[in-house]
Amino acid sequence: MHPHVTAVGLMLSAVLVLAAGLGVASVQAGSQESRTTVWDGVYTADQAARGKVVYDRHCSSCHLADLGGSSEARPLAGDRFMEDWREDTVHTLFTRIRSLMPFDDPATLSDDAYLDTVAYILQFNGFPVGRLALTAEGLADIQIEGRDGPGQVPSFALVQVVGCLTQGFDAGWILTSSTDAVRTRDPSGSTADELRALEARPLGTQTFTLMSVYPDPASHAGHKMEAKGFLIRGPEGDRINVSALEMVAAACEP
Ligand code: HEC
Repeated sequence: MHPHVTAVGLMLSAVLVLAAGLGVASVQAGSQESRTTVWDGVYTADQAARGKVVYDRHCSSCHLADLGGSSEARPLAGDRFMEDWREDTVHTLFTRIRSLMPFDDPATLSDDAYLDTVAYILQFNGFPVGRLALTAEGLADIQIEGRDGPGQVPSFALVQVVGCLTQGFDAGWILTSSTDAVRTRDPSGSTADELRALEARPLGTQTFTLMSVYPDPASHAGHKMEAKGFLIRGPEGDRINVSALEMVAAACEP
């Protein structure tokens, strides 16, 4: 992990160890980017223990005591948990649980109870304990990712992309110069404010074939567009089964 063992490198390692121990953002070796992930110890053992009590009382009837899920409710542990949540943030996990769960009585627990439950779910999934508790303010930038680091959003995830609307060879529609697919939990098009914010988002190098685009978006050909929908990865390229297509800007300069 540390290709150049220099004095500076060793000092940096010491800082990294200290940063990880304090539960603050760790600095990726070799880049300026500062990221925090679920591997950095983002909750405490006490918090997870309290979360188990909340979970057993308010969640286990449907998601089961071993978080294995039932015909009623999906698993919250193991591969299924990672398929649902990797390349997303702990913030999204928390806000979804806080607004939607318990399914039969949503949004009825305190923020602390929800935070504790999230801590328990993280612990159950093998993410390490840290010295600082998970807080509502600190959630936003904590990435959920596998042991191997960040990966591509998996097939069947609901995603958002921004690219140039282009007619394909078979008269179908494709997005070219597109950003990488990022997860979203909302299938509907972004709000006017969100779309304005997307204007500044740099385009990327991805291409997505758009499926089920109605009505025909010909009037937006050449525009910078947001597409949302279910991602279907395949050997012939990645497709998006579109749930929303919105114009971001009239020009589309890669
Ligand atoms: C009465 C049954 C029930 C209870 C109690 C319940 N859930 Fe759920 N949960 C569901 C159902 C149904 C869904 C939606 C379908 C699915 O995901 O399988 C769901 C979905 C979820 C999801 C996925 C949300 C998403 O973004 O799609 C999470 C995470 C979750 N539950 C966590 C919890 C937690 C944590 C608790 C306790 C605070 C809880 N649930 C209590 C039934 C329940």
